[in-house]
Amino acid sequence: MKLAVSILQIKNINDLKVIDNLDFDYLHLDIMDGLFVPNKTWEYEEINSFVKDTKTKLDVHLMVNDIDSYIDDFKNLNPEFITFHYEATNDPMKYINKIKDLGIKVGMSIKPNTSVEEIKDFLPLLDLVLVMSVEPGFGGQKFMDSAISKVNELNALKGDYVVEIDGGINDETINLVNPDIAVVGSFITNGDYKENKEKLKRVI
Ligand code: DX5
Ligand code: ZN
Repeated sequence: MKLAVSILQIKNINDLKVIDNLDFDYLHLDIMDGLFVPNKTWEYEEINSFVKDTKTKLDVHLMVNDIDSYIDDFKNLNPEFITFHYEATNDPMKYINKIKDLGIKVGMSIKPNTSVEEIKDFLPLLDLVLVMSVEPGFGGQKFMDSAISKVNELNALKGDYVVEIDGGINDETINLVNPDIAVVGSFITNGDYKENKEKLKRVI
């Protein structure tokens, strides 16, 4: 299982240097527009100034309505993945094609109330499926057990995509699911980053 650290709740953005040297598989960037979710995070220019020199691969999670313009900005970070929300558009194919045409791996995220069934037709086209185990918008929320069956269902469908889970992951909940990638935010960023990562590594 790979680990993607979410820096949404990082105390001091300059700690990114410390995080960048902890060998996480991905740096998970939560990009929120205050419209699709009731919270706003970094604009491109700001986050670019922080991550442009990081060596950890980038995993961009767009929680935005205007998917087009955010792809146009965040493609410049040369991320490994750009993930958009199924619920944010009535034309997912447009963004699947747009991201793939950029040579970037495309992810689709589903909120807790969206079933795997609803996105089944897109699965063969995706590089990543992001299962939200919290309502998107904030870090530090409680893990929602309803995500467990979705991860199992996606694993059973055995597509070429990787399965990523995001929200409320800690040293207990991480063993309730078997994703390819687990996003971990507050469990890492509340306290000593290195110690918290080691705590997690000991149980997976
Ligand atoms: C929530 C974000 C998550 C969140 C994870 O909308 O997509 O990535 O930052 O943080 P924790 O691990 O604290 O739930
Ligand atoms: Zn996220």
